[in-house]
Amino acid sequence: MIQVWKNPVASVLPWVSALLVLLTLGGVAQAADDSALAIFERRILPILQAKNPSSCSECHLSGVDLADYVRHTQDETFAALRDGGLIDLKEPDRSKLLAFIARKPERPSLVTDKIRQQELEAFRAWIVAAVRDPQLLAAKESSSKIGPQLPGEVIRHARKDRVLASFVDNVWAEAGRCAACHSPDRNQQQVKKHGEHISWIKLGDPAATLAYLREAELIDLVKPEKSLLLLKPLNQVKHGGGQKMAFGDRTYKQFRQFIDDLAATELGKYTAAGQLPAVSTEVSSVSEIWFKLEGVPAKYDKLVLQVDLYRWDERSKDWSKDRWATADRPVFGGGQLWQNHLSITAPRDSERAAAVRRSPALPAGKYLAKIYIDEQQKFEHRYPAVLGSDDLVGQVEVTSRWPAGYGQMTVAKFPAN
Ligand code: HEC
Ligand code: HEC
Repeated sequence: MIQVWKNPVASVLPWVSALLVLLTLGGVAQAADDSALAIFERRILPILQAKNPSSCSECHLSGVDLADYVRHTQDETFAALRDGGLIDLKEPDRSKLLAFIARKPERPSLVTDKIRQQELEAFRAWIVAAVRDPQLLAAKESSSKIGPQLPGEVIRHARKDRVLASFVDNVWAEAGRCAACHSPDRNQQQVKKHGEHISWIKLGDPAATLAYLREAELIDLVKPEKSLLLLKPLNQVKHGGGQKMAFGDRTYKQFRQFIDDLAATELGKYTAAGQLPAVSTEVSSVSEIWFKLEGVPAKYDKLVLQVDLYRWDERSKDWSKDRWATADRPVFGGGQLWQNHLSITAPRDSERAAAVRRSPALPAGKYLAKIYIDEQQKFEHRYPAVLGSDDLVGQVEVTSRWPAGYGQMTVAKFPAN
């Protein structure tokens, strides 16, 4: 081969010279392709038409895309990126845009990582060539700002880590209600009967749980209120576990708010900060502590009863300002009783909040139980509805160690007026 290169005349075989011609042509074409313009046209412009999402989507559910950083001409793109401080003219390899693209999660998906490498190489090659191109360097000031056009709040809201945090607060925190039948550490009997698919809770892994709920289509982004994650426990679609929530109760509200928000985020419906849902001022987590009211008048049968617990404070000799626990569920009129797990609550910005998320428990002592009943059937008629002072039917003092477990329920008498 080397001889052939040195002395083409020596090539007696016609195919060798043909090969040589091809190689030479290829070399010339390669050199021409290295111009900034050629790289731009071949590797950057197609990003504008790409059907598949860019690598950004691995962390941003919506709101940002690599295409936001590309304009229809090279001059415009260069000027806008330069003026936006995203290109480093002296050290092109250190351009901010490249750092943006290079960012990857701890556990990147293989597919996305490959896309990311291609994007990175394309932009690096182009930027390196572009900063050496005198014509581009002379490009006049750009007239518009490059990058995503949405407000920062909306971009932040659509980040996957934020979405996951909201899933943890709203769904994961309540999933304890479903664990006996849906968590793989507790549902062997159910699995034997119904199959592995019943384990939609992935033990200790909210991210995997959310991914599974989506994959198995238990969450419906087009019609959020029709999601099986809601209709099954409502027993509106026949549910092996029977009715596990009432329409409008706190579990329903939290699940529904999360799914509504996920749908709006993913479908890119938010365009202004004012449209984003307010973050609850409270955190909550379902505990294994059960609370029961006896002697509930039978006339309240099937109406949702809500209990809020306020802790006695020895120092101020008063009940706490914020509730420490809450629970709601329909009354069982036939048995004149109401019982449920307690969700432990704390103001979001309080020291207690972290402990509530980690291991929800209630300190022993005296509490005031305020009891509300949805006599006006607000929950049935509008969504979302909350119970307030209009719905207060009474209150009762309860002293308990608040042990966990169905067998060690704390019991109180429904107050006689
Ligand atoms: C590994 C996850 C991850 C990837 C991949 C990722 N981002 Fe981000 N992005 C973040 C995080 C986290 C923030 C917020 C805090 C920060 O800037 O460090 C953010 C913030 C942003 C912001 C807001 C800017 C600001 O100054 O706050 C924009 C715009 C943005 N990213 C665009 C992109 C684009 C475009 C891509 C794809 C080329 C991308 N991101 C890829 C995680 C990521
Ligand atoms: C007492 C046991 C029990 C409890 C508690 C329970 N479920 Fe179920 N659930 C079942 C059984 C059994 C099935 C399988 C049969 C069926 O599809 O209805 C099921 C199925 C489901 C399905 C469909 C799963 C699939 O892959 O098709 C969803 C969604 C669901 N439950 C949600 C919930 C939610 C949310 C809760 C808690 C608020 C809950 N369940 C509490 C027993 C229970």
